[in-house]
Amino acid sequence: MKLDSSISAIVTGGASGLGAATCAHLAELGVNVFACDLAEPVEVIPGVTYLNVDVTDYSQVEAAVAQANATAALRLVVNCAGICPSQRIVGRKGPHDPALFAKTININLNGTFNVLTAGAAAIATHDPVDEDGQRGVIINTASVAAFEGQIGQAAYAASKGGVYALAITAARDLAGLGIRVNAIAPGIVETPMMASISDEYRSELESLVQFPNRMAKPQEYAQLVEAIATNNYLNGETIRIDGALRMPPR
Ligand SMILES: NC(=O)c1ccc[n+]([C@@H]2O[C@H](COP(=O)([O-])OP(=O)(O)OC[C@H]3O[C@@H](n4cnc5c(N)ncnc54)[C@H](O)[C@@H]3O)[C@@H](O)[C@H]2O)c1
Repeated sequence: MKLDSSISAIVTGGASGLGAATCAHLAELGVNVFACDLAEPVEVIPGVTYLNVDVTDYSQVEAAVAQANATAALRLVVNCAGICPSQRIVGRKGPHDPALFAKTININLNGTFNVLTAGAAAIATHDPVDEDGQRGVIINTASVAAFEGQIGQAAYAASKGGVYALAITAARDLAGLGIRVNAIAPGIVETPMMASISDEYRSELESLVQFPNRMAKPQEYAQLVEAIATNNYLNGETIRIDGALRMPPR
């Protein structure tokens, strides 16, 4: 699918990190970009419209989708909004807080599903753009934690495992509408989400990355968004972007 000024895109978590890099990349290609986030943008990107949206609130998501779709045909949805808490199932302070588990699932998985659903319904109203009958593309963000959740990542890994499972299921559900669904599973990326970790833990993590021996840049994630959106045969897949990192238990 072509990425240009004839289409709109919704990017959740667009105020920061991977979402912000994706907004910048898509805006450079001419796409009408709508960054949906709870937070104010870390840096305002020219050409991007910022909408205050909580992805766990379906009516807010629907309103954002309608606004994007009124500007130009909504054809691309990129779900980046997420949180990454850490707590052991039974730790020194007792059992895992069930509210924290539920909150993580609510933002990372239910939020992704809300935007996927409202976005797909809007995309489905448009004529196809090519001879295959393609109407649009949805890209969700999983994590390598879906496959190798580390100690303390039960809630996060479970939420991202759900996002992984959704890729093929949603691709099948939406195939009749000409909508492709894929997920990206990043390893460790240089974003505000990773800013709170100590220098020591950071070097330890980086030493696990096979090549290149560093964290990924958010722009490398955005490049993959473009590759998925423009490659019409990529569907139902979760693609790791991790420098061959395989997470150990801790
Ligand atoms: N940075 C990494 O190393 C890494 C690795 C694997 C997966 N991921 C995933 O990539 C995605 C983006 O992460 P990031 O590193 O850019 O983090 P980030 O913290 O920089 O950005 C996440 C954004 O999501 C927003 N957000 C949180 N809850 C929201 C809600 N309810 N509604 C709307 N927006 C909300 C935050 O305000 C923030 O701007 C997340 O889903 C994360 O789990 C990140």
